[in-house]
Amino acid sequence: MFTSRPIGFVQSLYKESKEIPKGLGAKHEAEGVLTILPEFETGLTDIDGFSHLIVLWEFDRSQGFDLLGTPPSDNRPHGVFATRSPRRPNPIGLTIVELRRRDGADLHVRGVDMLDGTPILDIKPLLSSIPAEKLRRGWLAEAEAHKK
Ligand SMILES: C[S@@+](CC[C@H](N)C(=O)[O-])C[C@H]1O[C@@H](n2cnc3c(N)ncnc32)[C@H](O)[C@@H]1O
Repeated sequence: MFTSRPIGFVQSLYKESKEIPKGLGAKHEAEGVLTILPEFETGLTDIDGFSHLIVLWEFDRSQGFDLLGTPPSDNRPHGVFATRSPRRPNPIGLTIVELRRRDGADLHVRGVDMLDGTPILDIKPLLSSIPAEKLRRGWLAEAEAHKK
Protein backbone atom coordinates (compact mmCIF):
# COMPACT_ATOMS: atom_id res chain seq x y z
CA MET A 1 0.00 0.00 0.00
CA PHE A 2 1.17 3.54 -0.64
CA THR A 3 1.68 6.04 2.14
CA SER A 4 -0.53 9.03 1.47
CA ARG A 5 0.74 12.60 1.55
CA PRO A 6 -1.21 15.80 1.14
CA ILE A 7 -1.16 17.58 -2.21
CA GLY A 8 -2.61 20.65 -0.49
CA PHE A 9 -4.95 21.92 2.20
CA VAL A 10 -8.52 23.21 2.38
CA GLN A 11 -9.17 26.78 3.44
CA SER A 12 -12.66 26.73 4.93
CA LEU A 13 -14.71 28.99 7.16
CA TYR A 14 -15.55 25.92 9.26
CA LYS A 15 -13.28 25.70 12.30
CA GLU A 16 -15.38 23.16 14.21
CA SER A 17 -17.54 20.22 13.13
CA LYS A 18 -20.67 21.66 14.74
CA GLU A 19 -20.58 24.58 12.25
CA ILE A 20 -21.02 22.24 9.24
CA PRO A 21 -24.65 21.63 8.15
CA LYS A 22 -25.75 18.04 8.88
CA GLY A 23 -28.77 15.80 8.50
CA LEU A 24 -31.61 15.56 6.02
CA GLY A 25 -31.78 18.46 3.60
CA ALA A 26 -28.41 19.89 4.68
CA LYS A 27 -27.09 22.10 1.90
CA HIS A 28 -23.38 22.50 1.25
CA GLU A 29 -22.92 25.82 -0.43
CA ALA A 30 -19.99 27.14 1.55
CA GLU A 31 -17.17 28.66 -0.42
CA GLY A 32 -13.56 27.78 0.25
CA VAL A 33 -10.16 27.48 -1.35
CA LEU A 34 -8.16 24.37 -2.17
CA THR A 35 -4.56 25.48 -1.89
CA ILE A 36 -2.26 23.10 -3.73
CA LEU A 37 1.38 22.79 -2.68
CA PRO A 38 3.89 24.37 -5.10
CA GLU A 39 5.43 21.03 -6.10
CA PHE A 40 2.04 19.82 -7.38
CA GLU A 41 0.82 23.04 -9.05
CA THR A 42 1.74 21.87 -12.56
CA GLY A 43 -0.80 19.09 -12.02
CA LEU A 44 -3.56 21.74 -12.14
CA THR A 45 -2.84 22.46 -15.83
CA ASP A 46 -6.16 22.49 -17.78
CA ILE A 47 -8.32 22.02 -14.68
CA ASP A 48 -10.00 25.38 -15.36
CA GLY A 49 -12.31 23.89 -18.00
CA PHE A 50 -14.13 21.64 -15.54
CA SER A 51 -17.15 22.90 -13.65
CA HIS A 52 -17.03 20.33 -10.84
CA LEU A 53 -14.23 18.47 -9.11
CA ILE A 54 -14.10 15.37 -6.94
CA VAL A 55 -11.93 16.08 -3.90
CA LEU A 56 -10.51 13.21 -1.87
CA TRP A 57 -9.30 14.24 1.55
CA GLU A 58 -8.39 12.96 4.98
CA PHE A 59 -10.64 13.08 8.04
CA ASP A 60 -7.57 14.18 9.98
CA ARG A 61 -9.58 15.08 13.09
CA SER A 62 -11.40 11.73 13.33
CA GLN A 63 -10.11 8.93 15.46
CA GLY A 64 -11.09 5.29 15.20
CA PHE A 65 -14.09 3.88 13.41
CA ASP A 66 -17.48 2.28 13.99
CA LEU A 67 -18.73 -0.44 11.66
CA LEU A 68 -22.29 0.51 12.61
CA GLY A 69 -23.43 4.04 13.36
CA THR A 70 -26.54 6.18 13.43
CA PRO A 71 -26.10 9.14 11.06
CA PRO A 72 -27.62 12.59 11.74
CA SER A 73 -30.08 11.95 8.89
CA ASP A 74 -31.76 8.89 10.44
CA ASN A 75 -32.58 7.29 13.79
CA ARG A 76 -31.53 3.79 12.75
CA PRO A 77 -27.98 2.39 12.65
CA HIS A 78 -26.36 1.65 9.30
CA GLY A 79 -23.08 0.06 8.20
CA VAL A 80 -20.20 2.49 7.85
CA PHE A 81 -19.88 1.67 4.15
CA ALA A 82 -23.55 2.61 3.65
CA THR A 83 -22.92 6.06 5.15
CA ARG A 84 -20.68 9.11 4.80
CA SER A 85 -19.48 8.78 8.41
CA PRO A 86 -16.15 10.44 9.29
CA ARG A 87 -15.35 7.45 11.53
CA ARG A 88 -14.17 4.89 8.96
CA PRO A 89 -11.37 2.30 8.81
CA ASN A 90 -9.52 4.41 6.22
CA PRO A 91 -10.43 8.01 7.08
CA ILE A 92 -10.94 9.23 3.50
CA GLY A 93 -13.54 11.88 2.69
CA LEU A 94 -14.99 12.67 -0.74
CA THR A 95 -16.63 15.94 -1.68
CA ILE A 96 -17.84 17.21 -5.04
CA VAL A 97 -17.22 20.93 -5.33
CA GLU A 98 -18.00 23.51 -8.00
CA LEU A 99 -14.87 25.16 -9.39
CA ARG A 100 -15.47 28.90 -9.49
CA ARG A 101 -12.01 30.02 -10.51
CA ARG A 102 -8.34 29.14 -10.38
CA ASP A 103 -5.80 31.61 -9.12
CA GLY A 104 -2.41 29.93 -9.54
CA ALA A 105 -2.25 27.14 -6.99
CA ASP A 106 -5.54 28.25 -5.38
CA LEU A 107 -8.79 26.68 -6.54
CA HIS A 108 -11.76 28.77 -5.41
CA VAL A 109 -14.65 26.38 -4.94
CA ARG A 110 -18.21 26.15 -3.64
CA GLY A 111 -19.66 23.21 -1.74
CA VAL A 112 -17.05 22.75 0.96
CA ASP A 113 -17.96 20.49 3.91
CA MET A 114 -14.43 20.11 5.29
CA LEU A 115 -12.85 21.74 8.30
CA ASP A 116 -10.24 24.44 7.80
CA GLY A 117 -6.79 22.92 7.23
CA THR A 118 -8.07 19.54 6.02
CA PRO A 119 -5.37 17.72 4.01
CA ILE A 120 -6.26 17.10 0.36
CA LEU A 121 -5.21 13.71 -1.00
CA ASP A 122 -6.32 14.02 -4.62
CA ILE A 123 -8.48 15.98 -7.05
CA LYS A 124 -10.19 14.60 -10.14
CA PRO A 125 -12.59 16.20 -12.62
CA LEU A 126 -16.21 15.10 -12.35
CA LEU A 127 -16.96 13.57 -15.72
CA SER A 128 -20.39 12.06 -15.49
CA SER A 129 -23.22 11.24 -13.20
CA ILE A 130 -25.63 8.34 -12.94
CA PRO A 131 -28.99 9.12 -14.58
CA ALA A 132 -31.54 9.97 -11.87
CA GLU A 133 -33.82 7.07 -12.86
CA LYS A 134 -31.00 4.56 -12.24
CA LEU A 135 -29.94 5.92 -8.86
CA ARG A 136 -31.16 4.17 -5.68
CA ARG A 137 -30.63 6.00 -2.41
CA GLY A 138 -31.23 3.11 -0.01
CA TRP A 139 -32.03 3.93 3.64
CA LEU A 140 -31.65 7.65 2.95
CA ALA A 141 -34.66 7.64 0.60
CA GLU A 142 -36.72 6.01 3.39
CA ALA A 143 -35.54 8.58 5.93
CA GLU A 144 -36.39 11.41 3.52
CA ALA A 145 -39.86 9.91 2.87
CA HIS A 146 -40.54 9.71 6.63
CA LYS A 147 -39.65 13.36 7.06
CA LYS A 148 -42.29 14.53 4.52
C1 LIG B 1 -20.69 13.35 6.93
S1 LIG B 1 -19.01 13.77 6.55
C2 LIG B 1 -19.08 13.77 4.79
C3 LIG B 1 -17.81 14.23 4.20
C4 LIG B 1 -17.67 13.97 2.72
N1 LIG B 1 -18.62 14.75 1.92
C5 LIG B 1 -17.80 12.50 2.41
O1 LIG B 1 -18.86 12.10 1.93
O2 LIG B 1 -16.86 11.75 2.65
C6 LIG B 1 -18.97 15.49 6.89
C7 LIG B 1 -18.54 15.73 8.29
O3 LIG B 1 -17.19 15.41 8.42
C8 LIG B 1 -16.62 16.14 9.47
N2 LIG B 1 -15.33 16.67 9.03
C9 LIG B 1 -15.07 17.62 8.12
N3 LIG B 1 -13.75 17.81 7.99
C10 LIG B 1 -13.16 16.94 8.85
C11 LIG B 1 -11.81 16.65 9.17
N4 LIG B 1 -10.80 17.28 8.59
N5 LIG B 1 -11.56 15.70 10.11
C12 LIG B 1 -12.58 15.06 10.73
N6 LIG B 1 -13.89 15.29 10.46
C13 LIG B 1 -14.17 16.23 9.53
C14 LIG B 1 -17.61 17.24 9.84
O4 LIG B 1 -18.20 16.87 11.05
C15 LIG B 1 -18.64 17.18 8.73
O5 LIG B 1 -19.92 17.48 9.20
